[in-house]
Amino acid sequence: MRTLNVALGERAYPIHIGPGLLGRPDLVVGALATPRAAIVSNEVVAPLYLEKLAAPLRAAGVRITAIVLPDGESHKNWETLNRIFDVLLAERCDRGTTVIALGGGVVGDLAGFAAASYQRGVPFIQVPTTLLALVDSSVGGKTGINHPRGKNMVGAFWQPKLVLADTDTLATLPARELSAGLAEVIKYGLIRDLPFLAWLEENMTRLMARDAEALAYAIERSCANKAEVVAADERETAKDGGRALLNLGHTFGHAIETGLGYGEWLHGEAVAAGTVMAAELSRRLGWLSEADVARVRELLARAGLPVSGPKLGAERYLDFMGHDKKVVAGRLRLVLLRQIGAAITYADAPPDDVRAAIESCCA
Ligand code: NAD
Ligand code: GLY
Repeated sequence: MRTLNVALGERAYPIHIGPGLLGRPDLVVGALATPRAAIVSNEVVAPLYLEKLAAPLRAAGVRITAIVLPDGESHKNWETLNRIFDVLLAERCDRGTTVIALGGGVVGDLAGFAAASYQRGVPFIQVPTTLLALVDSSVGGKTGINHPRGKNMVGAFWQPKLVLADTDTLATLPARELSAGLAEVIKYGLIRDLPFLAWLEENMTRLMARDAEALAYAIERSCANKAEVVAADERETAKDGGRALLNLGHTFGHAIETGLGYGEWLHGEAVAAGTVMAAELSRRLGWLSEADVARVRELLARAGLPVSGPKLGAERYLDFMGHDKKVVAGRLRLVLLRQIGAAITYADAPPDDVRAAIESCCA
């Protein structure tokens, strides 16, 4: 097991990464306020892993309430959130109850938002089970739900007390979901970690073959990058750069997810196509070469990801992008690449270049 720290002062917390961690109640019990927990999962993950986590906790004296949600991005909404509150109230969970998210980013975002708002906030633990959740969504405290008009539009910052990243859970993850997680892994290389990008280029075949050592290294390096960025700009308030850089490809990607209807494309797939659009726009602004854009495209394709977006029409993309949280005072602040390995936030991209970048990256 390796342990990283998210350095957030009194809200600092560890990320434990390694195999077999679901069966380590000793790592969890110390992070509970009282011996009472509600494990939120979904109907795919619960049959695979709920008892592996719950049974040792029960044996350690923790009273467990299980909340099993429907599966999928299309359920990341008010109705599902309310189901969590219904059970927490029916089971008389009090303020000392810790909410534990067991699942991918959808469960993590829903359970985290429930923890942030139930009785004005209860403790929260993340137990991620997808690659995307292991490398990104379980760390950093962003929680929330989608609105029909925009992705992740309602939510809260609510840091977990602990992230328990059991790499064994990846054994059952479908290949398409593994690829979706790799989009966020590649993101760290592109925005701030050139040596990691080179490592990914050398080791993509191993990652796609689920080589345990390669996956563990990629998870650890991704979490280390995320922890550093979050510690420096927890609430994404830095004027330039900061946490917003973690959203490379996301503004374009959110337009794809919202435009097609949540769940049609996976989040990581939309981010991948959006990353190519961001790279192409960076080229049009004179920052990247054609070879750089080809390099981005090639690595994403080798990770089994789409490298062009659906033909929604540039105006629809822009309309959805206009609802993004990166809009500040009516101006769209995009995350672009000043060079490979160094991202910036930029609000001055000429609209015609943005349109052209989108159009040339749709198939
Ligand atoms: P997901 O949660 O929908 O999980 C993907 C699929 O894999 C689901 O069908 C799930 O049931 C299944 N699954 C999960 N673990 C499994 C396992 N071990 N074995 C077999 N199947 C398993 O999707 P995701 O890609 O994990 O997360 C995407 C979500 O995360 C999006 O809603 C996105 O907005 C959000 N997100 C949040 C943050 C953040 O900082 N909070 C960051 C990135 C993404
Ligand atoms: N996934 C973007 C962030 O956590 O800020």
